[in-house]
Amino acid sequence: GNDTVEIKDGRFFIDGYDAVELAEKFGTPLYVMSEEQIKINYNKYIEAFKRWEEETGKEFVVAYAYKANANLAITRLLSKLGCGADVVSGGELYIAKLSNVPSRKIVFNGNCKTKEEIIMGIETKIRSFNVDSISELILINETAKELGETANIAFRINPNVNPKTHPKISTGLKKNKFGLDVESGVALKAIKMATEMEHVNVVGVHCHIGSQLTDISPFIEEARKVMDFVVELKKEGIEIEDVNLGGGLGIPYEKDKQIPTQKDLADAIINTLLEYKDKVEMPNLILEPGRSLVATAGYLLGRVHHIKETPITKWVMIDAGMNDMMRPAMYEAYHHIINCKVKDEKEKVSIAGGLCESSDVFGRDRELDKPEVGDILAIFDVGAYGISMANNYNARGRPRMILTSKKGVFLIRERETYADLIAKDIVPPHLL
Ligand code: LLP
Repeated sequence: GNDTVEIKDGRFFIDGYDAVELAEKFGTPLYVMSEEQIKINYNKYIEAFKRWEEETGKEFVVAYAYKANANLAITRLLSKLGCGADVVSGGELYIAKLSNVPSRKIVFNGNCKTKEEIIMGIETKIRSFNVDSISELILINETAKELGETANIAFRINPNVNPKTHPKISTGLKKNKFGLDVESGVALKAIKMATEMEHVNVVGVHCHIGSQLTDISPFIEEARKVMDFVVELKKEGIEIEDVNLGGGLGIPYEKDKQIPTQKDLADAIINTLLEYKDKVEMPNLILEPGRSLVATAGYLLGRVHHIKETPITKWVMIDAGMNDMMRPAMYEAYHHIINCKVKDEKEKVSIAGGLCESSDVFGRDRELDKPEVGDILAIFDVGAYGISMANNYNARGRPRMILTSKKGVFLIRERETYADLIAKDIVPPHLL
């Protein structure tokens, strides 16, 4: 949950800092990330999965999914805590290296890795490429050969498991583009091919079934499918060192709902894996959480500029918009919203950004402390897939981001200026 915020004396505090004062000082729209919350979230994984190392003597690795939020201060913080990296592009690998993530803790995902990205991964000596197709396998082997190296690879399988989440963020169904199909034998065929290749070293099996999972049963089903496959591989004489079950643990966007914790996830996964201990050697266990590490640490502050009544609703217009935070427009995602100032009066309102799109709405018919022009609203749980999916639509610069921590308040990303908006545009000579 949101453990590091509180409402006190009618004001909203993040890590002990008054949100309205932060908005005054740094301007709006403003992303606020709580360092303390990220630490809490990371430690929940470490605590919950300690049992894996104790009971099996094998490693447990958290590889943070950089796509959730790859701000350098955030990635450095997690790296300092001992966290690894799940990267999906050369750009994310670049950031992981700048964040001093040890190469043994970097895994490379994605279904369309380019040769340049593969070279970069091999040169970095990453723990594994999570191979998504036979075509990619061939390219990795060829590239490693050219470099005179051997690349570590894991195979991403498509287990055909229903994650029971939003269709746009489910990934492990047959109809999804990801992974090698197990049932039809393609995955096995690919791994057998790999064992014949000279420049790849098969180390693992990988799987990721979707994001924002609020039910534990799909994780159990996933773990079974992966372990059944590992057993099948053993029969073929192929030993697996790493099992990577991806990310996906959801967070409680809706404040009145209970969802599974890291502890619930750990119990489910560990118990399922241990069922196989007489059949195969227990592997190292890797997870790639993104959302559950950083989402609850982030707040987006927006200032109310206009209020308008219509026959249907009362619109409260804030200076944050869908370009800053796409999730509601893109997935009809629910985010909790509050007025940072507590009022005697409450009011039912709809909250919108200022972009020229009808989907630029953060919440409809929400009961808030009566919003007035000048008030600061806080949108909760935007630490994951917030700034990382932000864009410049409507020629709006992406916002500032600050980090609140026990050590103080730090600017960790500067606001984009008008000049930044056109910095990459080039006007041909005849139009000058
Ligand atoms: N590993 C792989 C291979 C993934 O594809 C993803 C997310 C993760 C790990 C991290 O999953 P998480 O722990 O964050 O659920 N933009 C969407 C979410 C897309 C997730 C894509 N893959 C959203 O805002 O809900």
